[in-house]
Amino acid sequence: MVYIGHRGAKGHQPENTLPSFQKALDLNVDGIELDVHVCKTGELIVIHDFTVDRTTNGSGAVSELSLSEIKSLRINDEIEIPTLEEVLDLVGKKCFINIELKGRHTAKAVSNLIEKYILENDYSYEDFVVSSFQREELEMLFTINPKIHLGVLSQASVSQALEWATAFSAKAIHPHFSLLTPENVQKAQEQGFKVYTWTLNETEDIERIKTYNVNGIITDFPERI
Ligand code: G3P
Ligand code: CA
Repeated sequence: MVYIGHRGAKGHQPENTLPSFQKALDLNVDGIELDVHVCKTGELIVIHDFTVDRTTNGSGAVSELSLSEIKSLRINDEIEIPTLEEVLDLVGKKCFINIELKGRHTAKAVSNLIEKYILENDYSYEDFVVSSFQREELEMLFTINPKIHLGVLSQASVSQALEWATAFSAKAIHPHFSLLTPENVQKAQEQGFKVYTWTLNETEDIERIKTYNVNGIITDFPERI
């Protein structure tokens, strides 16, 4: 079982920031999870929401802001919103990266970036898991590059996740932990899929879900796993 820092180490540092990813690395995670959107000038930006309003001192949709506008914003008065390239350069293959396609039209840019890091920085496909709740983004990525490891996120049902995972030859399903039973975890694994579940923060939940033999747990507090 692997453990994956949610938005870095969201329980300790502002989510989806370089300090958060560094904290996750300091806590020896096996992987980090992050969310991406494409901004107006085409770069991949690591941020959860569709707007910058909640997490920064600015406002507006990520898709309507240029990279320089995004870089002028601050989180907690001091931290910049990182690009995906900046995060990959920080992580430097110390752990795998779970890239969640949160925004629209992200698949092509993510495929290009993964290819670039495989060609130029000695990464391999095993260093990335690309997940999404969005059927169109998963389908697009599968069409563009079927070698990229996909994970199907679901908050609704494990059976729907399995259906999509089969359709797009995914490596994993990523159901919310409340959907899991020992039986459906076993069924998914018998069908050849790994099960990565989120977001487990309470020790009681973590201990229970561990007994289901999931393949990975996504948490804001990696030290609790
Ligand atoms: O990838 C698991 C989890 O991050 C999905 O939900 O809202 O935290 O992106 P959210
Ligand atoms: Ca996420």
